[in-house]
Amino acid sequence: MPRKKDAPAAPKAGAPAIGTVPLKVGGKPHPELGLGLWSLGRWERDDETRTRATADHALSRGVRWFDTAEVYGTGRSERLLGDVLARGNVAPKELFVTTKVSWEHLRAAQVRAAVVGSLQKLARTSVDLILVHAPDRRVPIAETMGALEALWKEGKMGAIGVSNFSVEQLAEARAALHETDIVVNQVVYNLFDREDGDGVSEYCRKNGIVVEAYTPLMRGILAGRYLDGTPPSPEVRRFAHDLMDPNRYRTIVAAAREIRQVATEAKVPMASIALHWLRRRGAAVLFGASRPEQVDEILEAWGHRPSDAVLDRAEAIAQGATRA
Ligand SMILES: NC(=O)c1ccc[n+]([C@@H]2O[C@H](COP(=O)([O-])OP(=O)(O)OC[C@H]3O[C@@H](n4cnc5c(N)ncnc54)[C@H](OP(=O)(O)O)[C@@H]3O)[C@@H](O)[C@H]2O)c1
Repeated sequence: MPRKKDAPAAPKAGAPAIGTVPLKVGGKPHPELGLGLWSLGRWERDDETRTRATADHALSRGVRWFDTAEVYGTGRSERLLGDVLARGNVAPKELFVTTKVSWEHLRAAQVRAAVVGSLQKLARTSVDLILVHAPDRRVPIAETMGALEALWKEGKMGAIGVSNFSVEQLAEARAALHETDIVVNQVVYNLFDREDGDGVSEYCRKNGIVVEAYTPLMRGILAGRYLDGTPPSPEVRRFAHDLMDPNRYRTIVAAAREIRQVATEAKVPMASIALHWLRRRGAAVLFGASRPEQVDEILEAWGHRPSDAVLDRAEAIAQGATRA
């Protein structure tokens, strides 16, 4: 019997192993796959139960890296994650919790207030990683980094990272730190959106910085979503406006259908191509999900590693589409 659309998925045994990569600061290894809590439910009150069920389910299936931010749901995401983790049966040392300081709070005093506020909402005295969500050209990077380094010395975070930073901005941030270093740069990265990820990968690899790839499924398209012609909902269009440019959207959906065919021939779930292509490029993968069964599908996909030849074919299709 088909499961009711919003019913929580039954826990399944045998979740695939999620490996880790070492971090040069903080002492905890960084999981290679994690769940982001940005779009979960889009923060409509009606969706909160489903959101909680999704995060709970991910925890029960072995996901340990959870990513949130002070801006997600203006604090509701951090509160919900804090609650899910507090009720869950997983020791803090097993978890890898990340949050972000908003690009609107990068002055020194604002950074401190933001970090203290985030920890309160998460109901923790420290998190594993705090990122600068995005740079703000009006605020010197050194000012923000100075404030974060002071908080790091107080033990409020295991390590400092950034998000949406270019190589130049990364170098500036690192130069402003005295006793620690940037460990992570979180950027948009998927088969169709490569500019930011490719742009920073080499610098990050040389300097021991982990590239965290967000929007790895291109809002679900790389997991087969919308390929039957169903249009994205208005709220998805609102949040993913770049992707929804009508010309780009048509080209990408056509290429994604070809990638789906490659996956079918290789007998792997389509999402495994998206996830393992990023893994092959050395990125840690931060996916989104708004239902427990999507978490199961992504974990299932993570458990299938397509051959290099399959990943090469998918990459060629995506490159053809993005050059068109
Ligand atoms: N640093 C930044 O500036 C930044 C920016 C964006 C995101 N992020 C982080 O990265 C995380 C992931 O980003 P994202 O949500 O854009 O990533 P994504 O993984 O590309 O997209 C997630 C969406 O894909 C759909 N999906 C998931 N599994 C599916 C499946 N098995 N089959 C079909 N569709 C599926 C769901 O859409 P529906 O919910 O519509 O069903 C889900 O919400 C965020 O939560 C956030 O933590 C960071």
